[in-house]
Amino acid sequence: MTETYDIGLGNNDIQTRKKADSDFISFWDEQAKNLTWFSFWNKTLDWQPPFAKWFVGGTINASHNALDVHQETKSEKPAILWEGENGDSQILTYGEMYSQVQKFANVLKSLGVQKGDCVTLYLPMIPELPVAMLACARIGATHTVIFSGFSATSIRDRVDDSKSKVIVTADGGYRRGKIVPLKEVVDEAIKDFDFVKNIVVVQRTKNEISMTSKDKFWNELMNDVSEVCPSEKLESTHPLYILYTSGTTGKPKGVLHGTGGYLTHLYSTFKWAFDIKDSDVFFCTADIGWVTGHSYVVYAPLLHGATEIMYEGAPDFPDASRMWDILQKYNATIFYTTPTALRMFMKFGDDIPNSFDLSSLRLLGTVGEPINPEVWKWYFKTIGKEKCPIIDTWWQTETGGMLISSLPGLETIPLKPGSGTRPIPGVNITVVDENGDDVEPDTKGYLVVKNPWPGMLLTLWGDDAKYKTVYWSKYENCYYPGDYALKDSDGYLWLLGRADDVLKVAGHRIGTAELESCIVSHDDVAESAACGIPDEIKGEVIIAFVVLKQGVDTETKVLEKELVEKIRTDIGTIATPKQIYFVSKLPKTRSGKIMRRLLKAIGNNEKIEDVSTLEDSAAVTEVQTVFDEIQKSIKESK
Ligand code: WTA
Repeated sequence: MTETYDIGLGNNDIQTRKKADSDFISFWDEQAKNLTWFSFWNKTLDWQPPFAKWFVGGTINASHNALDVHQETKSEKPAILWEGENGDSQILTYGEMYSQVQKFANVLKSLGVQKGDCVTLYLPMIPELPVAMLACARIGATHTVIFSGFSATSIRDRVDDSKSKVIVTADGGYRRGKIVPLKEVVDEAIKDFDFVKNIVVVQRTKNEISMTSKDKFWNELMNDVSEVCPSEKLESTHPLYILYTSGTTGKPKGVLHGTGGYLTHLYSTFKWAFDIKDSDVFFCTADIGWVTGHSYVVYAPLLHGATEIMYEGAPDFPDASRMWDILQKYNATIFYTTPTALRMFMKFGDDIPNSFDLSSLRLLGTVGEPINPEVWKWYFKTIGKEKCPIIDTWWQTETGGMLISSLPGLETIPLKPGSGTRPIPGVNITVVDENGDDVEPDTKGYLVVKNPWPGMLLTLWGDDAKYKTVYWSKYENCYYPGDYALKDSDGYLWLLGRADDVLKVAGHRIGTAELESCIVSHDDVAESAACGIPDEIKGEVIIAFVVLKQGVDTETKVLEKELVEKIRTDIGTIATPKQIYFVSKLPKTRSGKIMRRLLKAIGNNEKIEDVSTLEDSAAVTEVQTVFDEIQKSIKESK
């Protein structure tokens, strides 16, 4: 039997869930009124499946809700407690953020950015990033943030897709004490794009960079503009941002989020899940380059006028005590991080966190991957000292905000290590089989969402058809997130990982198709198949099987190096495979589909069953042999 933890630290509001269950549309209508609107909507939900428009006719502005609304009471309150990797620090109050954002909004306008334009942001975790996002939101420009670990090729594809005229970047960013030359990467990425008119450069590292007439320094531009820039009154469905994410096809998809629905979702979930209070010091470790950073570093905490910590660098730099040091330094009360980070901290041992005063903590959270029960228990005991509830929050780039989590700000329910518990109010989630029928309790199936919710994506940027097929075609009128799950007999949901060809490596989403198309674009490669195998720290890591073209006689060691280099330059270092295996054929079905299931089984040291559809069973034997041989030589070389 699963252990339960009932520490009774939650509110006891039964009405909210009751209202949500009886009518989710009027429930969200009520929640939306927590935000400040310029004008109210005339229709709460316009649902033309699978396209949802929330709060139609209402006008709102994200930047106004994050900043203007707090000026009367909180202009002196710290919004962001920024900690640089090298020990620099900076405090930005709500008043200072307000003035910076208005100024940068005027900078964008002076560069010709207008409502409806896209602006690309390729920045490290520095305060200028949220400032730039809110400045875009203020004038109705759609921001598209690119994680600063992505390569020039990845940026090129994304800038080309969004047609941004302005890119905001930095001279460099710090990562483990080294400087990542961001401006240089941008220069390489956009060298063929005449449509990019300006690059705005924040001077973070002061490393030498080349500047052309297109390029402008952030500080100089900020000196020349007025501090006043009123917020645009935008339609609730106005596109707030595009965030590219990996899926099952070769190219990343541009997930498009709107304004009024998205903000309503964030405001509510932040209150329910984190039980946020005015006195809290919130710390979410996510990089703003990913959705968790967009939703729960930038928008949700600022909508609530909360104080939060923003950290620039690697979690274990200069050593494994960095996170605990930050929590202690700022008296953090809420800590929201990933299972990968926790697995790493746990491996370093208890002495490190035990030597810090973490008594200010009152609530802990995780996101991004399934959390192993033993890691959950370690988090509960060693970090939370058995007094902090843990929220395990399930959601996706596409969902905008949490859809499954325990909600101490709303209700008290016993926790089970490894389970996200229940859907948030107003969201109908179930687990179904291949035919779409509900599965029995404790049976693995596919997670589906049965009604629209306010934070859901509007569509995929420029590709409504793909939006329909990817998310809404597997089951009629149900959103299909691509995750396995089961519901236990108490109705608790357990998330069991991806059901499709998307990997989660250290919490980062990587599509196998994207990797494979990069590998086969190497001149010597004929075919490739990538898959994930479990890893003690990162959850899973990538392995790739490669078939070379006939006649290629380059040494595999050389090729392996070239392929790794190619993946790093085409995608980014996060997609680096742990191992590449060279084989002469891949196991395929008679219709020619690669049997990834078998490759995965080999990689996982599992028994291979049911190969009846296989075209050539010799391929399995070969893949198995190569894999075994390489594994053996790795072991011997240790
Ligand atoms: C996985 C991250 C288990 C899941 C916010 C989902 C999780 C994908 C959890 C989305 C969780 C996220 N437990 N798995 N608490 N949270 N996932 O778009 O597979 O980067 O589909 O969004 O992460 O990843 P994304």
